[in-house]
Amino acid sequence: MSEPILRVTDCSKSFGGLQALDNVSFWVQPKEIVGLIGPNGAGKTTLFNVVSGYLKPTRGEVVYESVNVTGMPPYKLAALGVGRTFQVVKPFAGLTVLDNVTIASLLRHPNRKNAARQAWHMLEFTGLADRAHAQASGLTLAGRKRLEIAKALALEPNLLLLDEVVAGLNPTEADRTIELILKIREEGMTILIVEHIMRVIMNISDRIVVLNYGSKIAEGKPAEVAANPMVIEAYLGEAAA
Ligand SMILES: Nc1ncnc2c1ncn2[C@@H]1O[C@H](COP(=O)(O)OP(=O)(O)O)[C@@H](O)[C@H]1O
Ligand SMILES: [Mg+2]
Repeated sequence: MSEPILRVTDCSKSFGGLQALDNVSFWVQPKEIVGLIGPNGAGKTTLFNVVSGYLKPTRGEVVYESVNVTGMPPYKLAALGVGRTFQVVKPFAGLTVLDNVTIASLLRHPNRKNAARQAWHMLEFTGLADRAHAQASGLTLAGRKRLEIAKALALEPNLLLLDEVVAGLNPTEADRTIELILKIREEGMTILIVEHIMRVIMNISDRIVVLNYGSKIAEGKPAEVAANPMVIEAYLGEAAA
């Protein structure tokens, strides 16, 4: 087995008395798609925040490409190749779609012209090119979620964290976004994805990690996880209900 691209060891995060993450350990291999699931409030977004540098864990260690990146700020992690989307999308609403992505492209292409050219590629890749000159605030939710993906891709990450990019979309939009995720996978990117929609997570993940009340309660191939009684009790039963 090759060296993991990401290794999270014994990570905990508390907010006052609330233990949002409790001693969570897992790893992601290069080019793997790992799904992260669990009920609302399980700690999925908190884990993303810890891995991408938006939150410092109370305890534990995050190692990315063999570098201890625990507590490193987001811009440094982005420079090292950790890109992410936000569950609650927050584009620069007053800027155009193209400018939003160009800002992200500047990380890799300090020349503005080159950054804009790279941003165009990302808009074409994510199916947003026809909206390039629209204000970001004018996009539908599906458009804003795509914009989040385009911005994250513009950072040219090796590890991409996708936080509920399909949730909330209608079935047609959801299918388009699933196609986009599969296209990203074909590019050879490593993906850690949080998603509630089971057909998405079960179909695209190589492996799934399950959180419940901040603890990892299961891990394995989609079929193993789906058959795990603890997972059914904590999550799938709820999702099916
Ligand atoms: N910044 C914060 N301050 C206080 N509590 C938080 C904060 N972020 C998350 N939490 C709490 O931590 C728990 C895990 O939240 P979160 O990671 O968003 O869960 P998930 O993404 O799995 O739905 C929840 O109980 C949530 O209310
Ligand atoms: Mg969340």
